[in-house]
Amino acid sequence: NSGTIWVSTEDGRIKGLDWSAGDEESFGALMARNGWVDINNTQKSGAGDVKVQVVTADEARNEFFFPGFIDTHIHAPQYPNAGLFGSTTLLDWLEAYTFPVESGFGATNTTPTNDPKDTPPSALRIYDQVIARTLSHGTTCASYFATVHVPATNALAALSHKRGQRAFIGRVCMDNPSFCPEYYRDATAEESLTSTQSVIEYIHTLDPKGHLIKPIITPRFVPTCTKPALESLGTLAASYSPPLHIQTHISENLNEVALVEELFPGDTYAGVYDKYNLLTKRTILAHAVHLSSSERALIRARDAKISHCPASNSALGSGIAPVRTFLDEGLTVGLGTDVSGGYSPSILEAARQACLASRLLGHTVSFSEEKSENCEVGREKLSVEESLYLATRGGAAVIDMADELGGFEEGMIFDAQLIQLGSVAPIGGLLEGTGDVLVDGPVGNVDLFGTETWEEKIQKWFWSGDDRNVKAVWVAGRLVHHRA
Ligand code: GUN
Ligand code: FE
Repeated sequence: NSGTIWVSTEDGRIKGLDWSAGDEESFGALMARNGWVDINNTQKSGAGDVKVQVVTADEARNEFFFPGFIDTHIHAPQYPNAGLFGSTTLLDWLEAYTFPVESGFGATNTTPTNDPKDTPPSALRIYDQVIARTLSHGTTCASYFATVHVPATNALAALSHKRGQRAFIGRVCMDNPSFCPEYYRDATAEESLTSTQSVIEYIHTLDPKGHLIKPIITPRFVPTCTKPALESLGTLAASYSPPLHIQTHISENLNEVALVEELFPGDTYAGVYDKYNLLTKRTILAHAVHLSSSERALIRARDAKISHCPASNSALGSGIAPVRTFLDEGLTVGLGTDVSGGYSPSILEAARQACLASRLLGHTVSFSEEKSENCEVGREKLSVEESLYLATRGGAAVIDMADELGGFEEGMIFDAQLIQLGSVAPIGGLLEGTGDVLVDGPVGNVDLFGTETWEEKIQKWFWSGDDRNVKAVWVAGRLVHHRA
């Protein structure tokens, strides 16, 4: 139940692995079953171009490396609103909470500029904070929605690059005056296009090879975008080789779906994106709660990807996405926090919520109606392993990096978190205890009693763990966060 991992200091990739799978009960066996690898108790290699992380054999019993989490859908500027949504649902939430907070990211300078230095200090602070916070929860890669503002969006790219978090950065496009408020929108479809181009250029200069930061074309969703904007953004994505990634929202809320039907009579929601070449193998579709089976078939045919955002879907009362159906139909699914529709920046929380939501799905009317398609009731439940898969390998597939991220295999990039399970100190028992109040370090919520198998330790971490269990985080082999 021990092993060694060698990570190249040159490119942050795993150069060699040596571990023993052990018996059925071992962590190695559990991880191997799920395509992950036990790299506890890593040892010194002595080789020149590699570095290794060392965990002592004793600590190793309750510590393990885990692939970094991938947040496939998060709104960085909405972070101040995490936890603030009252009883709103999507469309009134956008108006009451979301557009107001995002509109504060505009340049203080009145002459138009692309310089990240023209970002308001308050906006810089929020971006700094959301990167630090998501890293502390083990998120090594995030696909961010920013705002319409070019300097602030460039600043988000620069900050992620500096902090070493892998990120897709999307400048939000929203030019439809019949939906977007006067105070917060692109004046024209042309502005949606040219401002997006400015951000792409900035990011391509910042990180020419896209090792860490990549641009992503971001039409907010159908109701906020005019037809010319949708059309030019689809064309823009396709004009690059390889084509650029795209992210947007789809079928989150029933009123939103009805609105899209009104705007595009005779078309489906997925059909609208497809019409404008926005449904590609590099497209991330957030939510997908209320898709029809023909829309799912279209998404499958285009190989577009789904970001499942269960915490947000419950918080805003949007509904429950049928993840088992997605998986049965061969769709690619990852997890998103959707801050601040989602209240938590933690992908572990999103994974828990994915598990919980799947357990409620069998009780919903729409699911019962579809039951014949979904056959066996009970199959809709996601297991702990499946939810953790969505948080890692699933997310990697969503961002088209399944060969490089989400697991520990030779040649993959070492984006990882070191998880430590620990308990608050008990008083020491009736006999030897002093009865003093003990002040202990932040060891987290996971109490272990020495009897747990590795499988059970993982389950306890899954249900009760939090950022206190994240001892250290690496992106491409670089240490980007550690708990003091
Ligand atoms: N649909 C359009 N914009 C948004 C947003 O900011 N968050 C969520 N959850 N859905 C959206
Ligand atoms: Fe969202």
